[in-house]
Amino acid sequence: MSSGLIPEHIIEAVLKHHDIVDVIGKYVHLSKLGRNMKGLCPFHSEKSPSFNVNPEKQMFKCFGCGKGGNVIRFIQEIEGYTFGEAMRHLAEEANIAFAWEQQSPEQAERQQEKEQIVGGHELAAKLYHHFLYNYAEGKPALDYLHSRGFTDTLIDTFQIGFAPPRWDTLAQLLEKRGFPLPLMEKGALVTARSSGGGYVDKFRNRVMFPIRDARGSVIAFAGRTLGNEQPKYLNSPETSLFRKSRVLYNLHTARAEIKRTNQIVVFEGYADVIKAWSAGVHNAVATMGTALTEEHALLMRRSAERVVLCYDGDDAGQSAAYKSLGLLEKAGLDIKVAVLPNKLDADDYVETFGADRFRNEIIEGAVPREKFRLLHLRRNFNMQDNEAKLRYVRTAIREVIAGIESPTGREHYLKELASEFSAISSFETMKQETNEIREQEQKKRGNGDNNDISWNTVRNDGTDSQPLPKLKPAYDKAERHLLYVMLHDKEVTALVQERLGDAFNDEAHAALAAYLYAFYAQGFEPDASRYMASLQDDRLERLASSILMTESDQGINDQVIEDYLRQIHKYRELQAIERLTEERIAREKSGDIIGAARIELEILALKGKLQKR
Ligand code: GTP
Ligand code: MN
Repeated sequence: MSSGLIPEHIIEAVLKHHDIVDVIGKYVHLSKLGRNMKGLCPFHSEKSPSFNVNPEKQMFKCFGCGKGGNVIRFIQEIEGYTFGEAMRHLAEEANIAFAWEQQSPEQAERQQEKEQIVGGHELAAKLYHHFLYNYAEGKPALDYLHSRGFTDTLIDTFQIGFAPPRWDTLAQLLEKRGFPLPLMEKGALVTARSSGGGYVDKFRNRVMFPIRDARGSVIAFAGRTLGNEQPKYLNSPETSLFRKSRVLYNLHTARAEIKRTNQIVVFEGYADVIKAWSAGVHNAVATMGTALTEEHALLMRRSAERVVLCYDGDDAGQSAAYKSLGLLEKAGLDIKVAVLPNKLDADDYVETFGADRFRNEIIEGAVPREKFRLLHLRRNFNMQDNEAKLRYVRTAIREVIAGIESPTGREHYLKELASEFSAISSFETMKQETNEIREQEQKKRGNGDNNDISWNTVRNDGTDSQPLPKLKPAYDKAERHLLYVMLHDKEVTALVQERLGDAFNDEAHAALAAYLYAFYAQGFEPDASRYMASLQDDRLERLASSILMTESDQGINDQVIEDYLRQIHKYRELQAIERLTEERIAREKSGDIIGAARIELEILALKGKLQKR
C-alpha cells in the first residue's frame, strides 16, 4: 500500500482540510438532493444530473460515466493531474507544506519549466501594464484605449498593457530577472533572431490583453494594433500551457459570478467581455478568436447550466452562433442567444446605447435557441414575396419546429408562426405538417436508420449515452455488500480476512480487500476517503466509491455475513467443479482414463465440501 513518497500525515491533512463539496463546487454547479449534492457530470455530456457528491463520505460518484472517488481523485480527473500533482495542488491551497520527493527528475524539470514560463508571462503582464502608464511611447496606446471607452478602472481590472515598439525591451528585462530566454521562446514571449544571435520580443507596439488560465495564471497574450494594420490581433501561438481550444478568456475572474447566476455569457471578442463587465455583466467569457469547441462547451458546463451566446450582429457572427448550438446542446447546456443589431458587437452596443440598455434589452432579452433558429433561418428568405414566405414556413416547420421535443414548445412556436403567416396557412395545417414530419422521422429511426436529421443534433429522449448495465453474477452483490460493511467495520474485516482472505471471486474486489487489510493493519480507523487515497488507481477508486454510494448497511447482521461468505466460497467451488469437469471430459476423449478418474475424485471431494456449506 504505497502512497508514493508522500507522507501519510500530509495526505491526511489535505483530506481533512478540504471539504469535497467546496472543492467540487468550484467546478460543478451542485444542488442539494437529500443527503447528497447533485449536478451535471463534468466528465461526460449529459442533460439530467447523475453526478453525486456525498458530504458525509467525502466522496463523489457519477452514475452515468462511472467516475468516482475522493477529493484527490476529483482533482486528478478534472485537471488531468497525477496523484502527486493533485496532492500538490490541494496542499498548496491549504497552505500545507508539500515538500516531498515524488517527482521523477524529468517531471520536476517539466514542472519547473512550466512555472518559469508562467513566471515570465506574469512578469510581462506587469511590465506591459506599467509601460502603458509610465512610458512615453505608451501614451498613444493609453489615449487609444481611453478613446474607445476603456476607463482606468477597466484597464487595471483586466491588466491591459502596452508592448513597446523597441525590438527587445521584454527580452532584456526577462533576462535581467533570470528567465532563460530559450525557455521564454518555448513559451512564445520572445523569438530567436534569425541571424546575429539573441532574442527579440514577440509583441511590439501593441495594446496587450493578458490571457489567464482557469486558475488565474497568465499563460498567453492577445496584442491589438493601435490602428488598422493587419493582423488586428496577434495572439500567442499554442504552447504547452496555452491551448486555444480549451481556454476561455476571463473565465477565472468570471467564475464566482458564473456560479452565482448559474449562467455564462459568451462573446467573440476580448473587448466585448471587458465592456460587458463595465456594463455590469460579470459572468462573461470569450473564445480566442476561434470557433467554440466541444472542450469549451464542457468547460462551461462544469460551472453553469445555462449559456447565453452574444455574438456580433453581422452574418459571420450570427452564423458562428448558429453553428455552436449543436455542441452546446450536446454538452447539456441550456442555450439562449442575445441578438445584437446588425453590424454591432457588444462593445459597440455598450458604447452607443449604454450599459442599462445592453443589460436589459440584449442580455435579458436573449431568446431561446429555437427562437434564434427561426430568426436565423428567416435571413435566407425574401419576406416580401409570398412564395418565399411559404417556403420559409415549411422550412421552419421541418428544420426547427418538428425537432422540438416538448409538445408545448412545438405548440408555442407553431402558434407564433401561424399568427404571423395566417395569410399563408392555418395553425391546423401547420400542426398536421409538423406531425407528419415527426412520424416520418420516427419511422426512419425505428428502421435503424441513424442518419441524423438537421434538428436532431441531440436526442431528447432521455437516453444519455449510458450503457446498459451488464447482468452481474449472484456473488457480486454479496462481495460488494461485504466490502461496504468492511469499509465501516474493523471487526468484520478481521473476520473476512481470516475466513476469505483474498478469495473474492472478482479480482478487483480482492484488491480492494487487500488494500483494506493493509489499511487497518497500519492502525487506521475506518475512513473511506482516507482509504481511497491509499488506492491510487482510478479503476479501484471508482469501484470503491460505487460500492460506498450504492450499498448500505441495512439488514446486516452476523447471519447475513455468514451467508455472504458461503455464497462467495460456493461460487468459487462451483467454478472449480465446472473447470475440472471440462478437463475430465477432455481426458476421457484423449483416452487418459486414469487421469480422468483422478479428476473425478477431486470433483467429488469438492462437491462434498459444497454440501457441507
Ligand atoms: P476590436 O476591433 O478591438 O473591438 O476587436 P473585436 O473583438 O471587435 O474584433 P473582431 O470582432 O474583429 O474579432 C473578434 C475576435 O477575433 C477578437 O477578439 C480576436 O480574438 C479575434 N481576431 C480578430 N482579428 C484577428 C486577427 O487579425 N488575428 C487573430 N489571430 N485573431 C483576430
Ligand atoms: Mn469590437
